Amino acid sequence: MDERGADGELLMSRTVLVTGATGRVGGAVVDALVGGTGEDAADVQVRAAVRDPEYASLPEGVDTVAFDFARPETWGPALDGVDALFLMRPPSTGADEVVGFAEAADRVGVDRIVYLSVLGADRNRLIPHYRVERRLESLGADHTFLRAGQFMQNLADVHAPEIRERDELFVPAGDGRMSYVDARDVGAVGAAALVVDSPVPAAYEVTGAAALDHHEVARTLTDVLGRRIEYADPSPVAFVRRMRDRGLAWGMVGVMLTLYTSARFGLGARTGDGVERALGRPPRTLREFAEDHRDAWER
Ligand SMILES: NC(=O)c1ccc[n+]([C@@H]2O[C@H](COP(=O)([O-])OP(=O)(O)OC[C@H]3O[C@@H](n4cnc5c(N)ncnc54)[C@H](OP(=O)(O)O)[C@@H]3O)[C@@H](O)[C@H]2O)c1
Repeated sequence: MDERGADGELLMSRTVLVTGATGRVGGAVVDALVGGTGEDAADVQVRAAVRDPEYASLPEGVDTVAFDFARPETWGPALDGVDALFLMRPPSTGADEVVGFAEAADRVGVDRIVYLSVLGADRNRLIPHYRVERRLESLGADHTFLRAGQFMQNLADVHAPEIRERDELFVPAGDGRMSYVDARDVGAVGAAALVVDSPVPAAYEVTGAAALDHHEVARTLTDVLGRRIEYADPSPVAFVRRMRDRGLAWGMVGVMLTLYTSARFGLGARTGDGVERALGRPPRTLREFAEDHRDAWER
């Protein structure tokens, strides 16, 4: 891997299983684990747990294994010989299935679990990540929680159609700030935690360096794209109607509305130092992210 933990040597000869490896953060974990070329790169065998290995596109050298949280018969083969696990909860998967899989991993001797959580999960009993975290704490395996802020990637996927077609940032967050983070940084912190040869912190708060309001986000997009992007700040009702018209599932719309409403009331602005602490460098900025993802918003 090209980004070593800031405070430790690398564990050698590890087999790491990555769930969600076709997704945003899991994909970044895989990229960071296979990215190293130096003499001191960790000797890591990366195994990607994917529902459909035939269609998964992964970097060379990565093994794939058929895996589904909803099909426990796939868990044993996926975990065979695994030392460390990157665990994420797909949006449609219940906390119990994720915990059940983590317990199976613990039973077969996986010694470290890095879990993709969300900022504030330690204090919010209403979100599934809270329950997953508490149950992972009771396992024998070493664990690290990546408590991540809002992914910048949301701007380049779920919010891209309005930006591309209407020059509009269609987000109902008022003047509230959010601690946006590039999912590539979250993945890099996860990769470092999986292979570093020293005790890992129980949790990293992984966010960008500063929380941003959506006037600032729209200004950055305007600068990078060279055309004016307006922050629309729709009402909650208008937001729900538009997202439903676009065919997004009620569950996803509800999660987004909750997050943006929390931000509107000042609850999304907390930042953490996880990137600096784990990687010894600052987090990527929104401008860097926007420059790298310009294509998502070009007409
Ligand atoms: N969005 C945000 O801003 C944000 C911020 C902080 C934390 N989070 C947390 O991040 C997590 C989502 O991570 P992400 O954005 O990297 O995911 P993602 O890009 O949405 O990808 C979802 C992944 O889950 C896999 N998957 C779906 N159903 C599965 C199943 N039944 N069994 C096995 N794998 C399955 C998919 O694989 P295939 O479809 O290829 O099989 C895919 O790799 C959530 O827990 C969310 O709460 C999100």
